[in-house]
Amino acid sequence: MDSNPFTFECHATDGQARAGVFHTPHGPIPTPIFAPVGTQATVKAVTPAQLEELGAHLVLSNTYHLFLRPGPDIVAEMGGLHRFMNWPHPILTDSGGFQVFSLTSMRKLDEDGVTFKSHIDGSMQRLTPEISVDVQQKLGADIIMCFDECASPYDRDYVERAMHRTHRWAERCQQAKTRPDQALFGIVQGGVFPDLRQQSAEWIAAQGFPGHAIGGLSVGETKAEMNHMIEVVNAVLPPEKPRYLMGVGSPEDLIHGIWRGVDIFDCVLPTRLARHHAAMTFSGRLNLMNAVNARDPRPIDENCGCYACRHYTRAYLRHLITAKEILAATLISIHNLYTLEELVRQARQAILEGRYQAFAENFLANYRPQPE
Ligand code: GUN
Ligand code: ZN
Repeated sequence: MDSNPFTFECHATDGQARAGVFHTPHGPIPTPIFAPVGTQATVKAVTPAQLEELGAHLVLSNTYHLFLRPGPDIVAEMGGLHRFMNWPHPILTDSGGFQVFSLTSMRKLDEDGVTFKSHIDGSMQRLTPEISVDVQQKLGADIIMCFDECASPYDRDYVERAMHRTHRWAERCQQAKTRPDQALFGIVQGGVFPDLRQQSAEWIAAQGFPGHAIGGLSVGETKAEMNHMIEVVNAVLPPEKPRYLMGVGSPEDLIHGIWRGVDIFDCVLPTRLARHHAAMTFSGRLNLMNAVNARDPRPIDENCGCYACRHYTRAYLRHLITAKEILAATLISIHNLYTLEELVRQARQAILEGRYQAFAENFLANYRPQPE
């Protein structure tokens, strides 16, 4: 038997863009791929059967949330995250680092870890690299993440200290990991500073992780800065391992990330926008609450093959929204997630056929982005 269940096959490259397959114990992930976010072991308003139908291959969940509720022991007792949430395909868990730094105002950081106040019951809790890995081993995702420190991107002194701490914590995560059926990814930090990003990518790449993530982006820097950091980091990270851009993003972010050699993305955007009545399309965003939709017999997007667009009009969706019916969130979430999966599917096909640049330029020419 192959002792390493995690192999990354690259089927084609086109410039820096790559089309591949990342193999996991719960099946292959075609790349580039977009992972819907299921923070609390559920992609909000969408069932696993609907996720399968709309083309999802990988779902992300969060250590921070599941650690606090229901707790890793209950998930382990129920057979692990795949069985608990009935998603038999690949799962990735984030380490909790980012959530501790973005969700909790009360936290105390030391070299060993972070003590913070639970946003659920106000109790004091602690996460360290070892505890994060232990929790992620109990949850049982295919891909687990190092416990890192994500600094606000512009304060150079802080960014540099957080980067070095992230490196020390990455070593501790590697040492704490015991399960051979999980892949632990290292995370590159370094804010908006090219020299720190390069240093971080070199350090993380030297640790021999089976995959690498780019963290600390889409946290307030400009899109030009983000794209530049991706270029700097991917010039260093080894091409034979998958690259994951954490917490990104919008359709244009995916296009630009793939162009620069990113393989995996995740973001709450499609499901969060859906709960605020916004549909994502290949031409831009559409607010379905808008009164112009009241008598509109068209689907959200006439070129979309999703369940919502095959069966429902804009008039119906606007009715659901104004009547405060929860099916609105389900149908718009299905549409938005389908749109991003269709985008990465088309990008992958374009890479395989050696026409990614034309595909990306055509996409951007037709797409109206949100103002920065
Ligand atoms: N999600 C988005 N950005 C980050 C990051 O920098 N670190 C972690 N752990 N998760 C993220
Ligand atoms: Zn649709």
